[in-house]
Amino acid sequence: MTLLILAPNARPKIWAREIKLLDPNLDVRIWPNVDHLDDITYALVWDAPKGILSSLPNLRIIFSMGAGVDHFFLDSTLPENVTICRVVDSLLTDAMCEYVILHTLRYHRNQPELEKQQKSHTWNDLSDKQIHAKDQTIGFLGMGELGKACATILAEMKFSVYGWSRSPKNISGVSCFHGTEGLKTVLQKSKILICLLPLTKETKGILNACLFSKLPKGAYLINAGRGQHLVEEDLLSALDIGQLSYATLDVFNEEPLPVEHPFWEHPQITITPHNASITDPKSVSKQIYENIRREAQKIPLLNTVNRRLEY
Ligand code: GLV
Repeated sequence: MTLLILAPNARPKIWAREIKLLDPNLDVRIWPNVDHLDDITYALVWDAPKGILSSLPNLRIIFSMGAGVDHFFLDSTLPENVTICRVVDSLLTDAMCEYVILHTLRYHRNQPELEKQQKSHTWNDLSDKQIHAKDQTIGFLGMGELGKACATILAEMKFSVYGWSRSPKNISGVSCFHGTEGLKTVLQKSKILICLLPLTKETKGILNACLFSKLPKGAYLINAGRGQHLVEEDLLSALDIGQLSYATLDVFNEEPLPVEHPFWEHPQITITPHNASITDPKSVSKQIYENIRREAQKIPLLNTVNRRLEY
């Protein structure tokens, strides 16, 4: 049994060290240092070159290094009969909560405007604009592990929180909706809209002009899902016409965001370099080890991906 780490740009040596600490007997290889492809039974993957997974004849489990698994489905040669597991990790969830709360509060407390005022030495407490948390409506697209955790904290802080997901959910303190009608309701309410959807065929390009037009005028967007959720030109137009006031983006169609990209200089866009929540190898190695142990003992694996739904 051999675990292959196939993640050229994601600190493969650190992952190898952490997994070896948990199971010194497990043979761990880092791509491309593999003698026999047929030794490989498990692969730990992030942004791998396409076609490699299908060249491993005895592969049984593919582990994603991150919560998102869309990177696998871009590979048309992804082997069929192999289980895929994603990351569900409390540190990853906590970091995403910090990010979402930071940027939500920044908009709720009119911080961009206060920063502008500081530049012109203007003293104005903005009391005419500042509303109470209970009157601030926040909508989530995506109520998976991350969306649910962020929405719950904001609801505990007394914000009016709405959540939209593919299937019905019941989350304490959060008004949950699903389906096409449900989406309309959530959008109409969302002065601050947060996207934490998985990227699938259905959700690609969902943040577009039509969706923006259903938000309250002057809404704020926070996208920590995937860059491909957003139609970039539609965001620029929505900001131009005042349909959106500001956007915070952690993820982009092309990463790193090209130096000449118009988002960098846009006064209403805040950019973070896909660091909302970064996988911690020490913490996540434990669940990889646990799933390898479960497979050996024929116990159902944790956090498996539904290939049909692509998440
Ligand atoms: C990062 O984007 C992840 O999917 O964990």
